[in-house]
Amino acid sequence: MLVLSSALLLLSAAQSSLAALTTSNLNKHVDVLTLDNAFNPVEEAYWTGLPHHRRTPFAVSPDGKSAYLAYLDSSGTNVHVQEVSPSTFAATGTTVTVTGGKEAGGLVAHNDGFALLTNEVMPSSTSGETPPSDTPVAVLYRYTSGKQTWKTWLGGPNVHSDSSMGLSCSPDLNGDLVYSEESKTYGAYFVVTNYQGDASGHYGDNLLYVTSEGKLDESIEGTSSWGCSHNTGIALEAADATPYASGYVALNSGNGGMDTTVATKISNENVTNGATNEALGGMSGSYSGLARFGSSTKYILTWVSRGATDLTAYDWMGDGYVSSVNRTIARRVAIALMSDKKTLNGEAATSEVGAKSGDSQINWIVPESNTNDCSNAHVATFGESNALLTWEEASNPQCNFIAMGCAGTFEGTKFQEIDSTGATVGDAITVKDTYVAGDMVTMSDGRICWPYVSMTWDLSDSVMALGLSSKTTKKMSFACMSSSSSSSSNSTAGASSASSSAAVASSTTAALAVASSAAATTPSVASPTTLQTLIGSSASAAQQGANGASTVIASPAAITPSESVAAGASNSDGWWYGSWPTAVPAQAGKTRSGKTCRRRKRGVAHVEA
Ligand SMILES: *[C@@H]1O[C@H](CO)[C@@H](O)[C@H](O)[C@H]1NC(C)=O
Ligand SMILES: *[C@@H]1O[C@H](CO)[C@@H](O)[C@H](O)[C@H]1NC(C)=O
Ligand SMILES: *[C@@H]1O[C@H](CO)[C@@H](O)[C@H](O)[C@H]1NC(C)=O
Repeated sequence: MLVLSSALLLLSAAQSSLAALTTSNLNKHVDVLTLDNAFNPVEEAYWTGLPHHRRTPFAVSPDGKSAYLAYLDSSGTNVHVQEVSPSTFAATGTTVTVTGGKEAGGLVAHNDGFALLTNEVMPSSTSGETPPSDTPVAVLYRYTSGKQTWKTWLGGPNVHSDSSMGLSCSPDLNGDLVYSEESKTYGAYFVVTNYQGDASGHYGDNLLYVTSEGKLDESIEGTSSWGCSHNTGIALEAADATPYASGYVALNSGNGGMDTTVATKISNENVTNGATNEALGGMSGSYSGLARFGSSTKYILTWVSRGATDLTAYDWMGDGYVSSVNRTIARRVAIALMSDKKTLNGEAATSEVGAKSGDSQINWIVPESNTNDCSNAHVATFGESNALLTWEEASNPQCNFIAMGCAGTFEGTKFQEIDSTGATVGDAITVKDTYVAGDMVTMSDGRICWPYVSMTWDLSDSVMALGLSSKTTKKMSFACMSSSSSSSSNSTAGASSASSSAAVASSTTAALAVASSAAATTPSVASPTTLQTLIGSSASAAQQGANGASTVIASPAAITPSESVAAGASNSDGWWYGSWPTAVPAQAGKTRSGKTCRRRKRGVAHVEA
């Protein structure tokens, strides 16, 4: 068995070292799909108001015959699901409109239809305590042959109603939906805020499993009615059996929570104001962060990070948790490999108090010498052996807010092929007119395809200042990348024996070193309860981070909901509007949205926990 898998690895490494991606591996289908309804392709990032691509979930059925694109109507209500040809991407069939949906939060394609994760306002006839101010709740829809077959609420009065943490709603549907044909179970992982119970007013996340018949089954292992990945993005990928592979900057497959004395910490991210450097995409970015290598047990995770130095004790959180300082201004792309859905291949991030370096275990894809800010990192696999990694870069980054995204000059989208040992295959290619704005899907012919809107991309200022808030389009584009080692590629396969033998050596080591060091560095001491990690005692107002690295917010007493905004203006949502400030102190964000860990959005006051 070991001999066989080593041999396969050797073979794939040898193949993949023959070539590198070139722009001829990229096939663009510009404006190929005409939408029936207008779509706004730009979403404001939490806190900064900087542009993010508004996600358009994309999925292909197991038989490879049907593909679907989901998009939010430009009015902000109603999610449209358009079937497209998996080969031409032109529309086939009529648009299905899921009335009332507020966000296209995840899509699964079946041979006979699709399932959509969205959020919507509960009807007034709902019995029990519904969220205040018509705050939407997560909901899963199943459509068969264009007709709704079932609808299952994933929040509101009847979901984990026996949990002391309370009832959940989702003002934003930032998360993902996956399905396994083997286990016939959906997994939905998404950001929530509780409107009742002990966690009332706090942000967290839910990981819920639903059967193929539409039954929410909270007894399934890995179900989590309260975790804390904030709005900084989650990662979820199906496995043959539940629990599925999940995480953010810690792998938490199977325990659903955010306790790094249980979960495997992957990165020491600085957590401030409920965000962690938009490590997994931030607003609208929670897709294609974690991908499975074909039908193997192996996964690859990608994220962006500023690195970590100078680890100090984080007394309020206790043992196993550290504070850190970012190593760089700009964010860089990192990857981690998993030998199975629960096991990190390599070292976990250290929690050693006093350590100078808190990121030496990281497999960086972008070196420290690169001062461009990296964002929007995603990954998909070509099959068992190779993966496609992508991210965007911006030069002269202005990163005025700790743990948030940066403004800068857009320099292009990068595409980098990676082999199953995590080694790069050739150099990255840079493309200025193609972006990743929806799920990267492995097609039946082995290519990886994804949707985007063909437009000028600008990261230099806020959405408001760039005048993009009301931009709409009815044209959708798709792009596909073929592997440099696949026969369908147009690249010339010039063999290089030197690099080929190096790849062989490293893949042998990797194949033999399957044993995991997961959790080896995390002490098994009693950790604070989830509630403590989230809420804190009022005076310290510590804000728990996704990975256990937490930020102490200066003084909650100094922060009042009515606090005025220093520069620019915030709208009634409490979000940033106006020009991106070029020279504000790093902490100015505390005043701009009027609150530090609180924000008011769509009528509900929250604590960003
Ligand atoms: C850490 O990040 C902040 C915010 O992006 C930046 O202002 C600061 O210069 C960074 N620190 C280092 C050491 O690069
Ligand atoms: C290869 O090139 C041809 C001609 O330029 C093009 O039609 C085809 O789509 C390309 N195939 C791939 C996989 O890029
Ligand atoms: C985050 O970075 C800031 C500024 O360097 C620092 O004051 C804070 O302690 C850090 N927090 C964590 C949780 O690492």
